[in-house]
Amino acid sequence: MKSIIPFKYENGLLKLLDQRKLPLQTVWIELKTYKEVALSIENMAVRGAPAIGCCAAWGYFLGIKSLGSVFSDKIEFEKKRKKIFNRLSSTRPTAVNLFWALEQVSNVMEDDFESYLSSLEKKALEIEEDDRKSCRDIGKHGALSLPQGEISVLTHCNAGALATAGYGTALGVIRTLHENGRLKMAYADDTRPRQQGARLTVWELMEDNIPVTLLADTAAGWLLSSGKIDAVVVGADRIASNGDTANKIGTYMVALAAKMHNIPFFVAAPLSTLDFSISSGDEIEIEVRSPDEVRKVGDIYRTVPTVAVINPAFDVTPSELITGIITENGVAHPPYTDSLKLLRK
Ligand code: MRU
Repeated sequence: MKSIIPFKYENGLLKLLDQRKLPLQTVWIELKTYKEVALSIENMAVRGAPAIGCCAAWGYFLGIKSLGSVFSDKIEFEKKRKKIFNRLSSTRPTAVNLFWALEQVSNVMEDDFESYLSSLEKKALEIEEDDRKSCRDIGKHGALSLPQGEISVLTHCNAGALATAGYGTALGVIRTLHENGRLKMAYADDTRPRQQGARLTVWELMEDNIPVTLLADTAAGWLLSSGKIDAVVVGADRIASNGDTANKIGTYMVALAAKMHNIPFFVAAPLSTLDFSISSGDEIEIEVRSPDEVRKVGDIYRTVPTVAVINPAFDVTPSELITGIITENGVAHPPYTDSLKLLRK
């Protein structure tokens, strides 16, 4: 199994697999500065909550690396360091992994610039390696918690290797089921407007020869009523203390339909996606993106180009629709206010 790694830091460059181009083109872009990293998160060359966090950590490292000449001037250095931190933090508001990872790297301190850089590089690498390991553990816990035997699973968006440091969260569970000979079929929602399901989930599963079937988002209710689906597994961008979960727009509708048909609905996410500072999903900022994402499919307008559009990138699934939250430390069940706290590192 290949399970792609979508970014790597090498020889002073952050190399990214450009997810805007997949699956038609496999293009790697090379980033030298924190500004380029920030732009690549904003324009979604890299996307998916854990991958955004990892790349922001590398972006911070690249930014600090360019500050050698002002390191001894504490006031000037702090001014520039804050500018880097603020630029990277302003890229996407919903995925809490971004803020979590930036906090991790900004807590690194050393008196000597060379040691500071080397500690920062170590921290960015640790965040990346921990994420990869968490995904494997999520896969194992998920495979044990989902209905037993050979099963078919529906997923939404892309919570795969491409959205993490490798292997994936929701797709980590699907990969583990496949490795254990238990996956009958993975069903992938198209996930309009940006089609992360059709472009990314389908591509990465097919690269690994994992059976996948694509459906239009509008077919999810029908599919869940058909008896073909044993469980739903999705990723998350931010999980509140009570278990309310922000994930790609459309997740909420899938959760409602799953509830209606008594199909277990699981969220798979590392603990870095948990936001214990908020008590419920009402406090999650939902990113609103460009109207053209809805007006166009790819580069082509499919409606009247001047039509008014509403384009929230995420929605919040209330915790009462969620059967379990699969993390690297185990699976939380309702009531989440208690069970999530117990899984905390
Ligand atoms: O807008 P995106 O593509 O960054 O949104 C991605 C999702 O919603 C994923 O499901 C989520 O980030 C989890 S990725 C492991």
